[in-house]
Amino acid sequence: MNDPMKGIVPLTFYEPGQVQRYATDTPALDQYGRRIDYLRVSLTDRCNMRCVYCMPAVGMQFAPRPELLTNEELLFVIRAAAAAGFRKLRLTGGEPTLRQDLIELIRAMKAIPGIEHIAMTTNALRLKKLAAPLKEAGLDRVNISIDSLDPQKFRTMTRGGNLDEVWAGIAAADAIGLRPIKLNAVVVRGMNDDEVIRLAGLTLIHPWEFRFIEVMPLTGVAGLADEGVVSSAELVARLSAHYGPLEELGHPASDPARIYRLPGGLGKIGFISSVSDPFCATCNRMRLTADGRLHLCLLRDNEVDLRAAVRSGASQAEVEQIIRHAVYIKPWGHGLPDGVRPTLRGMSELGG
Ligand code: 5AD
Ligand code: SF4
Repeated sequence: MNDPMKGIVPLTFYEPGQVQRYATDTPALDQYGRRIDYLRVSLTDRCNMRCVYCMPAVGMQFAPRPELLTNEELLFVIRAAAAAGFRKLRLTGGEPTLRQDLIELIRAMKAIPGIEHIAMTTNALRLKKLAAPLKEAGLDRVNISIDSLDPQKFRTMTRGGNLDEVWAGIAAADAIGLRPIKLNAVVVRGMNDDEVIRLAGLTLIHPWEFRFIEVMPLTGVAGLADEGVVSSAELVARLSAHYGPLEELGHPASDPARIYRLPGGLGKIGFISSVSDPFCATCNRMRLTADGRLHLCLLRDNEVDLRAAVRSGASQAEVEQIIRHAVYIKPWGHGLPDGVRPTLRGMSELGG
């Protein structure tokens, strides 16, 4: 494999003139030739749940408001990203539905030339009310986290979440057509790994995609990953022992999930094996944090500060150049096999 840090400049501050000129008539490519056109936008680092694999129980420090990009700054950055070739947005958090003016933001994002698709990853607690206005504003679809079908266990894993509200949110999203609906469970050994049979069973009767995610060692919860990872291979074996051989539907390009179907199932099952079987070679994404940094790889600390550029008066064309540079220096892949772990940010700032 390539040296993951080859060519990496730890560019964290915008210095006029430092960024080389990139051609603007082609979509941004990184130095390994990957086309990066998918931006995951964290709208807030706050959340109305406290999932055990995402936030520590106590001691969370949230970014003070002045540190967050304003709506205008955020739209400015997304316009520059669209000019650099980004086509798909995913709104994340924390919990994106806690962002003020969410509906208006989505409407404005959808109107940006080049932005073709907007999805959102949510815990669905507020979705019953919001599904219809979100759809109307231009949101295309949602991914919803649901780690357990047992109300008590759900409450424990999310430290207080109400499963009934999540179900109401899923129903509202489905009814209004925020489809295809994808559901996510982070599988943690000893917590919800005994539920994968039931969770996967939802796809027998619903045309949903249920995705099982290996727990990743982000800041604040790294210890959980040490013993908690249940490999996707183990889950495939357990599900086929119960349901019969899974039908392999392949591995769509630039989708981190490997897709299967239960025998006779209406929906699909996906496995996201970031730890046991990384998909870095086909990575097409970068993350924008709520405080305006481009985070180049989920499992590394490298960032580029767009907020400083925006607040120092950079033009859209200049910000586009910085984004193109950030894409160029995107690390090849994560360093978990070599013991390199992210230290800077937790999942609640990065949005998965
Ligand atoms: N490992 C893997 N996935 C995680 N998520 C949150 N924390 C982790 C973690 N430590 C996922 C959840 C949620 C999405 C925003 O990120 O599935 O749906
Ligand atoms: Fe992409 Fe980094 Fe995730 Fe690998 S770990 S798929 S490089 S974001």
